[in-house]
Amino acid sequence: MDSTSTVSMLFLLSSFLLFIFLPFLCLLCTLSSKKRPTSSKAQSPPLPPGSMGYPYIGETFQLYSNNPNTFFALKQKKYGPIFKTHILGCPCIMVSSPEAAKFVLVTKPTSSKPGRSRASKERMLGPQAIFFQQGDYHARLRRLVLRAFMPDATRASVPWIEDVALRALRSWDGREINTFQEMKTYAFNVALLSIFGKDEISSIEELKKCYYTLEKGYNSMPVNVPGTLFHKSMKARQQLGQIVAKIISSRRQRNVEGRDLLGSFMESKEALTDDQIADNIIGVIFAARDTTASVLTWIVKYLGENPSILKAVTEEQEEVIREKEMAGGGDKTLTWADTKRMPFTSRVIQETMRVASILSFTFREAVEDVEYGGYLIPKGWKVLPLFRNIHHSADNFPEPEKFDPSRFEAAPKPNTFMPFGSGTHSCPGNELAKLEILVLLHHLATKYRWSLSGSDTGIQFGPFALPLNGLPLTFSFKTEK
Ligand code: HEM
Repeated sequence: MDSTSTVSMLFLLSSFLLFIFLPFLCLLCTLSSKKRPTSSKAQSPPLPPGSMGYPYIGETFQLYSNNPNTFFALKQKKYGPIFKTHILGCPCIMVSSPEAAKFVLVTKPTSSKPGRSRASKERMLGPQAIFFQQGDYHARLRRLVLRAFMPDATRASVPWIEDVALRALRSWDGREINTFQEMKTYAFNVALLSIFGKDEISSIEELKKCYYTLEKGYNSMPVNVPGTLFHKSMKARQQLGQIVAKIISSRRQRNVEGRDLLGSFMESKEALTDDQIADNIIGVIFAARDTTASVLTWIVKYLGENPSILKAVTEEQEEVIREKEMAGGGDKTLTWADTKRMPFTSRVIQETMRVASILSFTFREAVEDVEYGGYLIPKGWKVLPLFRNIHHSADNFPEPEKFDPSRFEAAPKPNTFMPFGSGTHSCPGNELAKLEILVLLHHLATKYRWSLSGSDTGIQFGPFALPLNGLPLTFSFKTEK
């Protein structure tokens, strides 16, 4: 496959499905014992079963003429848990067993080749952002990102997140809202808080405006001519870099050491350059916002459709309030400890992430020939672990289409539940995501009621799996009992 076709694949894929911003990282296949002896063709294991479709376009139309999840499910039914196909100009191997997903995502790499996204998209997000990296620089970035998002760092921010949640909910009262759009605003505000803390207010409004312009041009044709969306987007990207540089310089002048993500990036021992910081801040916003907002939108939908589950969530959350009142002290603000007393609500979040599987898959690229399960994965082929298929397999989750949070009372079998991915590129923001969802749900369930505005059902991809039209709802404050 030449570089032009790789570029086309990435462009099309990003305009349709998922994780456009995430790495096209290399699967560095190790285990020398499993290597295919390249000198002797006779000993080569066969390619997995499957069909490659027409020259160049492969099976792209079959994939996109329907819900892509239907394509994956049909293929798996026909060929089993490992199969080959050809989509968007690339030969691919798709894997849908927990073991194979683990092999692809967790197996330690021995050699590397940078996974590239389409150049224009990398320029928009930032070529030095964490998704596109591996090796020492990736490990260093991960340490810095994790330092800011691990429970130790986020526990103090519960009241701030609560403040953001309450402001959002108040603004929905009595209105018909597009749930996804509103959840995006909420997740954006929480992400900004965890990146910059509370003290950069004036720059943050400017930053938000530029980010919205950047995002509008993300899937546009990469024609950098004045007047085009792409051009506006690239200008906004430049301005974003300048705003971040301004915030950094203000922190340096004031000698502030924040415990937020920016503080972690600026910390002297492993400090990044200003450009590296800007790329990674924009990348984290990109990773944090639509993902969390999609999950929240699905939760609201599933709770609306399952009154007994909503009742159980509400009772659990009311119990948290009661316990706080009984403990006295008069402080009604949520604490980290309160969020640890929400086991049923946490299972609702898990079950939502399983059923909705907003990221149907991720992908890597084999950097050398490797054998898995008696089949050859050839160098240069894309390898796609199909999260959704794993989450919807009756072997892993009985009655997989049923929304049943109680199934998470027992831990799922190893490698069967991967809403945050697995291995070296797994989601470093998962604790923050769960925390901000819990905080919003606490107030949503105890203070608000909602009803679906339309009769639309179904699913859309934008780029993550979403209820149709972003789930229009009417929200209102519960009247006193
Ligand atoms: C419910 C919400 C979220 C979901 C479902 C989610 C899911 C994922 C998944 C599956 C990956 C791995 C992709 C791969 O292996 O190719 C990932 C990576 C990532 N996520 Fe999340 N994520 C969520 C929220 C967040 C938040 C809130 C943040 C930051 C505050 C974040 C930051 C990141 C970053 C920086 C990466 C790249 C890690 C790397 O390449 O090393 N995510 N996410």
